[in-house]
Amino acid sequence: MSFPYQIKTKEQYIAAWEKSVADPEGFWADVASSFLWRKRWDNVLQWNFTEPNVKWFSGGKLNITENCLDRHLGSLGSKPALIWEPNDPEEHHRLITYSDLHHKVVQFANVLKNNGVKKGDRVCIYMGMVPELAIAVLATARIGAIHSVIFGGFSAQSIADRLQDAQANFVITCDGAYRGNKEIPLKSVIDDALVQCRFVTKVIVLTRTHTPVSMIKGRDVWWEDEIKKVETMGNPDCPAEEMDAEDPLFILYTSGSTGKPKGVVHTCGGYMVYTTYSFVNVFQYNPGDIHFCTADIGWITGHSYILYGPLSAGATSLIFEGVPTWPDAGRFWDIVDKYKVNILYTAPTAIRSLMGYGLGPVKDHDLSSLKVLGSVGEPINEEAWHWYDENIGKGRCPIVDTWWQTENGGILISNLAGVTPAKPSYATLPLPGVQPVLVDEQGNEITGKDVSGNLCIKFPWPSILRTTYGDHERCRTNYFATYPGLYFTGDGCYRDADGNYRITGRVDDVLNVSGHRIGTAEVENAINMHTGVVESAVVGYPHDIKGQGIYAYIVYDSTHQEEQNLTRQDIAQTVTRIIGAIARPDKIQFVNSLPKTRSGKIMRRILRKIAEGETDSIGDTSTLLDPSVVEEIKNGKI
Ligand code: PRX
Repeated sequence: MSFPYQIKTKEQYIAAWEKSVADPEGFWADVASSFLWRKRWDNVLQWNFTEPNVKWFSGGKLNITENCLDRHLGSLGSKPALIWEPNDPEEHHRLITYSDLHHKVVQFANVLKNNGVKKGDRVCIYMGMVPELAIAVLATARIGAIHSVIFGGFSAQSIADRLQDAQANFVITCDGAYRGNKEIPLKSVIDDALVQCRFVTKVIVLTRTHTPVSMIKGRDVWWEDEIKKVETMGNPDCPAEEMDAEDPLFILYTSGSTGKPKGVVHTCGGYMVYTTYSFVNVFQYNPGDIHFCTADIGWITGHSYILYGPLSAGATSLIFEGVPTWPDAGRFWDIVDKYKVNILYTAPTAIRSLMGYGLGPVKDHDLSSLKVLGSVGEPINEEAWHWYDENIGKGRCPIVDTWWQTENGGILISNLAGVTPAKPSYATLPLPGVQPVLVDEQGNEITGKDVSGNLCIKFPWPSILRTTYGDHERCRTNYFATYPGLYFTGDGCYRDADGNYRITGRVDDVLNVSGHRIGTAEVENAINMHTGVVESAVVGYPHDIKGQGIYAYIVYDSTHQEEQNLTRQDIAQTVTRIIGAIARPDKIQFVNSLPKTRSGKIMRRILRKIAEGETDSIGDTSTLLDPSVVEEIKNGKI
């Protein structure tokens, strides 16, 4: 494949960005022309950020799987689309060519149809990182159903919340999943979730771990049996469903500063165009490159840069089932060496954790195939950046620090590997089509260089979220109402003298723990469900490996000194049950009361300072109802 829109020089980048601002419609129409459309669009862009209402390429007809699979069959049919590295390095890996993948997706699409799934239906996918996860996602998209992948670490309660919100009648899962030395009983978690979700009519279960499972008559079917049925039908074709560019492709739940997670909705056309465009340009993908993104497909990074972006570009994408530290901390480097990986895209938290093991696990592996390194999910500190650069890239691989969000669909701010300059801890410059602005608390634009503010985007790009599922008003208030006319990211940001952007972290009540987004309100709601908890307040604090840790202040009505540790564990267990282990508090401090204003608002600023250990800069406490609680909390800090 060739990519007429691939930017090769800094001058071309500047020209592309300028054209994308001066003539966005012409710019994106040119890019979109490189894709396979059944019918060309009527309008490139219609938009307003007030409702909001954004439509890209509407009237255009396509199916994203024809772009990811069918169009490659002629020239790339025998090329691996996916490489699968199992959790256990002793188990056989799998190479799945574009022809194989096409065949398997068509086959499973027929399974879905046989089980009653139709265009527009919501299908929840809760699986480990096996190739069948990719097949399930693509098969769902092929028949025009809407997938909602849930990360394998979420609890039954979180799954039930998401199933209810999406009104998903179909679930695809595995008996279990392997992650390092753990075996996660996925089907059993689903069974617990489904107690609350009687509307689920079909559960398709893939065999992976041979964990014992209960199969409910009439509802649960085995993946393998269903495939056999399609084979006995003579493996019929499954022509891709014709979708409008603005039909929903998927829902992905993510945390916000209030209440329950929101179902971010992405649509078919703009998402396809932008993920492919950003994949090819940020990573400077060249045909033949092996791309290894270490994210889980349950997060947006996996959707956009394991599946849709790379496959639409005809790349070979590596799926890794396991974890970076098992059987030892050299696992990533082993994989890079084994498959001669060219592009490695991972998270700062993984880099920091691997740094802790020293250079021993790195040194016996040949990393000379690497050409580009990527970072995503949280700010990368300079120490980790340099370690990555020196010891993994050996000083010769550009590092792309890619800033974006679930709601963005694809990378918005990043250097382009080897084309525009990197700067440690800076995401650097916006991609073409992206117009960042910094604003003050009142929404006034902060112009000029060497300034900080809240990061907003003032013009739509093709993969901006369209709505939050079932609640458009929530989408408006969350992203478009804080600063009218702008999309508000929730991030704070600094712009240096050269116009480079450096993301400084969330300015709302959202935590970023090991690159996972968690709302403080969500964790508080889970803690408050524990018996004996009167109230709680959760804040983030700097954590050497995770970036941010979770610090919970809890008012508990029957705390006995000798039982405190047990109670802490019980509360953490409650959070694991309600949300999942990723939201488990790292520190729990029992307090007699929380610092509140006279109107009853918890002063989190103070709690944050204490958790960060900055007790000298707490500032004015005179507006508190009872300023003495601050001293008491300071003295009890853990
Ligand atoms: O705070 C920013 C941080 O992660 C948030 C988005 O989280 P999520 O929707 O889960 O998506 C993560 C993967 C795209 C952002 O609001 N973030 C993401 N990338 C970076 C980052 N912070 C700093 N630098 C980054 N490169």
